[in-house]
Amino acid sequence: MTAVMSEELYNAMFRRRSVRRYMPGPLDPEMMRAVSSFTASMRPLFPDIRVELRFLGEEDVGGMFKVAAPHYLALYSEKKEGKEANAGFLLQQADLFLSANGLGSCWQGGPRPVRGTQRPSGLDHVVMLAFGRAAEKVHRDRSKFRRKEISDITDLADHREILEAARIAPSGLNNQSWFFNGGGGVVHAHAARSAVTGPMNRINVGIALSHMRLAAEHEGYRAAFAIREDGRHSAPRGYAYVASMDLQ
Ligand SMILES: Cc1cc2nc3c(=O)[nH]c(=O)nc-3n(C[C@H](O)[C@H](O)[C@H](O)COP(=O)(O)O)c2cc1C
Repeated sequence: MTAVMSEELYNAMFRRRSVRRYMPGPLDPEMMRAVSSFTASMRPLFPDIRVELRFLGEEDVGGMFKVAAPHYLALYSEKKEGKEANAGFLLQQADLFLSANGLGSCWQGGPRPVRGTQRPSGLDHVVMLAFGRAAEKVHRDRSKFRRKEISDITDLADHREILEAARIAPSGLNNQSWFFNGGGGVVHAHAARSAVTGPMNRINVGIALSHMRLAAEHEGYRAAFAIREDGRHSAPRGYAYVASMDLQ
């Protein structure tokens, strides 16, 4: 396994898929070190939110919709506005890294660390990724993505390459619970309001922003993220504002 650059993560967006069947047994130690060193280098959406990552095993994880895998990468965060989006933004980089290296991964929104699993003090579990050597295909053709049309997720006419990267992003239950608006080089990202899937929808928006950052950098922009007052005022009916991307 080699180090993966942003451009390889960018390319992985167009062919990754969720992997739900794994070969038994852990990754060899060298691969595990490569995964671990990549995860230590991932860039947050909000650097002021304290987070910690932990590698868990099959016996450490339980709950609905669990995919049995040799490894799980669990994210713990302090309680702060933006913690779900920050978690989605971070772990999507790992999802793409694993795919770019021919390994399988699958987001796990339902499963939790089982009781008794040590957690970092002061931080709560937010979400995790299952991963390992895949026993099914890791990649798929770009035409095979089941996603909404671009016009269902944005009313912006420009930056279509960047919004396309959001459109194909994975989401819990594939609900694609996001909407993007704004203008003048700023994209505001909103998550569908829901009493049941609200937190997951905000994780989804973080995942989409992670894809948008890679696409923006691929297009030669620098992307800066913030929670902005004008963004809060731009949420369409049925959506709650999450964060904005400023293209520089
Ligand atoms: C936040 C989040 C939570 C998810 N939770 C689960 C889960 O608990 N179990 C599962 O099998 N898949 C889960 N998924 C995977 C989605 O079902 C999958 O990403 C979506 O159907 C799109 O398919 P694709 O990843 O192959 O593009 C989750 C995805 C996201 C982004």
